[in-house]
Amino acid sequence: MAKLMVLTILGLGLAFFRDHRSSYLKRMNASREVKSIELPNCKFVKGIETGSEDIEILHNGLAFISTGLQYPGIKSFASGKPGKILLMDMNEEDPRIVELKITGSNFDLSSFNPHGISTFTDEDNTVYLLVVSHPDFKSTVELFKFQEEEKSLLHLKTIKHELLPSLNDIVAVGPEHFYATNDHYFVNTYLRSWEVYLGLAWSQAVYYSPNEVRVVARGFDFANGINISPDGKYVYIAELLAHKIHVYEKHANWTLTPLKVLRIQNILAEEPKVTVVYAENGTVLQGSTVACVYKGKLLVGTVYHKALYCEL
Ligand SMILES: *[C@@H]1O[C@H](CO)[C@@H](O)[C@H](O)[C@H]1NC(C)=O
Ligand SMILES: *[C@@H]1O[C@H](CO)[C@@H](O)[C@H](O)[C@H]1NC(C)=O
Repeated sequence: MAKLMVLTILGLGLAFFRDHRSSYLKRMNASREVKSIELPNCKFVKGIETGSEDIEILHNGLAFISTGLQYPGIKSFASGKPGKILLMDMNEEDPRIVELKITGSNFDLSSFNPHGISTFTDEDNTVYLLVVSHPDFKSTVELFKFQEEEKSLLHLKTIKHELLPSLNDIVAVGPEHFYATNDHYFVNTYLRSWEVYLGLAWSQAVYYSPNEVRVVARGFDFANGINISPDGKYVYIAELLAHKIHVYEKHANWTLTPLKVLRIQNILAEEPKVTVVYAENGTVLQGSTVACVYKGKLLVGTVYHKALYCEL
């Protein structure tokens, strides 16, 4: 009897494991084959070897690039070195990167670990750069003022909040106001792996302002990129392991109402029309995370690898 019970429990355990394992592989899209779609004149951006996880391009063509991300469970070539913010001018024929100097008395450069970034330009053209950072694998948002002449970032403030435990990406809607995604619910590495493995879908998006912080969307299987439409009416959230992009209507009180879901697996079949402009199986670029367009030029970034610059 006892033996039978042990066997039953073992069997249930194995079934549970197999079930989650197959769903996990499917969610990870582990055995996907990528058909190449090439673009003319692609070049690596010189000087980027340790990632370009996020990129934001200003209206004048200046691009901010976060590099050197170190994240539990993800490869890094940065080997313990702090991350950086790079600047590149998309108007140049053969753009070069410049490392932005970080100034400000209260900022610990040695633990700077930049991830998602976003800019906000106010009425008098001051540009604020908001950067998700993971000092000692915690989550903060670092607020900087961009000083174009000096090619520097003045650190103004570090933002931490209990509703921002595991930040991934950010989209600024004011100098100290933003929407952000938490890619996991847990902070503990062990619990995080179980959270993803079991597909709990406890990841959330949060609105932050100095006066008010609230969860605006929840139930994601790894919320990742977040962005806003150019007219500021819609917010987009990428749900990585469900292969979906969620579209929300943004209200005056900053709450979000779900409008529709774009399923990325039907990318070629469904309306609205989605076109794959570039695809590559990892020979050229590994772990790409972001793509930005400026005047017919495409800039593609990666978690830990290089950055690629192409003509569309
Ligand atoms: C925010 O605004 C929307 C649309 O006007 C409304 O439906 C919703 O109840 C408001 N929510 C809060 C918390 O004020
Ligand atoms: C992975 O993604 C491709 C393209 O979206 C899809 O055709 C394929 O079925 C997916 N594979 C798995 C294992 O989900």
